[in-house]
Amino acid sequence: MKFSYQDRVAIIVGCSNTKGFAYATAKMLGEQGAVLVAADINEEGARAVAEILRQDGYQAIALPVDVTDEASQENLMKTVYEKYGRIDVIMNVAGISQSIRTLEMTTKAWDRMIAINLTGTFLTMKTAIPYMQKNGYGRIVNLASVSAKNGGGVFGGPHYIAAKSGVIGLTRALGKEFVRDGITVNCVAPGPCNTGLLDTDFTPMAAGIPAGRIAVPDDVAAAMVFLASEEAGYITGVTVNVNGGAYMG
Ligand SMILES: NC(=O)c1ccc[n+]([C@@H]2O[C@H](COP(=O)([O-])OP(=O)(O)OC[C@H]3O[C@@H](n4cnc5c(N)ncnc54)[C@H](O)[C@@H]3O)[C@@H](O)[C@H]2O)c1
Repeated sequence: MKFSYQDRVAIIVGCSNTKGFAYATAKMLGEQGAVLVAADINEEGARAVAEILRQDGYQAIALPVDVTDEASQENLMKTVYEKYGRIDVIMNVAGISQSIRTLEMTTKAWDRMIAINLTGTFLTMKTAIPYMQKNGYGRIVNLASVSAKNGGGVFGGPHYIAAKSGVIGLTRALGKEFVRDGITVNCVAPGPCNTGLLDTDFTPMAAGIPAGRIAVPDDVAAAMVFLASEEAGYITGVTVNVNGGAYMG
């Protein structure tokens, strides 16, 4: 299906390699005619991805951002708005994970996880929304995880689960707060996918998933591209499970 993405400006936050959800999402948005901004703390990686996206035939640039730093986020949004005159779509993909148990966790590890996965998601929305309001249009998609729904126990530690649960709550709050401005905020909660985020053997997991396989990045990208489309404008504050039936709550 072709959505109304022609010339929409989409910032993919957390886009520095071709294995993760961000590149798969950027590619699908590019196929739909969107203008792409790959933003990441790994500036060199983001530049390489933007170059690949241009070789794929899409309009793409790269910009640096540290999602934990409000000034850096403001600078990203200002730069994009001054260049294109609009920010239509935010794909909030940046994140880290860490497998650790509660009693081994330091406050430093807790703080870093919350700073990147939860505060970072909040700051991206806080800095982008004023520009979306100027045009009366915006679509934001955040990234949670199946772990936030089922309590985890596989990869992410309790700090990861707390941060991603917070992302689900933020999605609801901002989805309600800004919908009358023409801005929707939604979320996807993927099951495990071998993107390189974690150095783990995913093979044994497939058997425990009703679909019989772990996710591939395009599974997640397809849900994100739908939720960020103009056509999905009556959907806000929801978190969509993309997990092959592993968890349905
Ligand atoms: N891979 C999975 O199995 C899985 C499952 C559920 C949810 N997720 C979530 O999906 C998202 C994307 O993960 P992925 O698997 O595609 O991994 P990924 O490592 O490809 O993507 C994460 C990106 O975030 C960037 N990043 C990290 N810290 C940053 C910062 N401070 N500022 C800006 N960018 C920063 C990294 O450089 C990287 O490019 C994450 O939020 C992750 O928690 C992943």
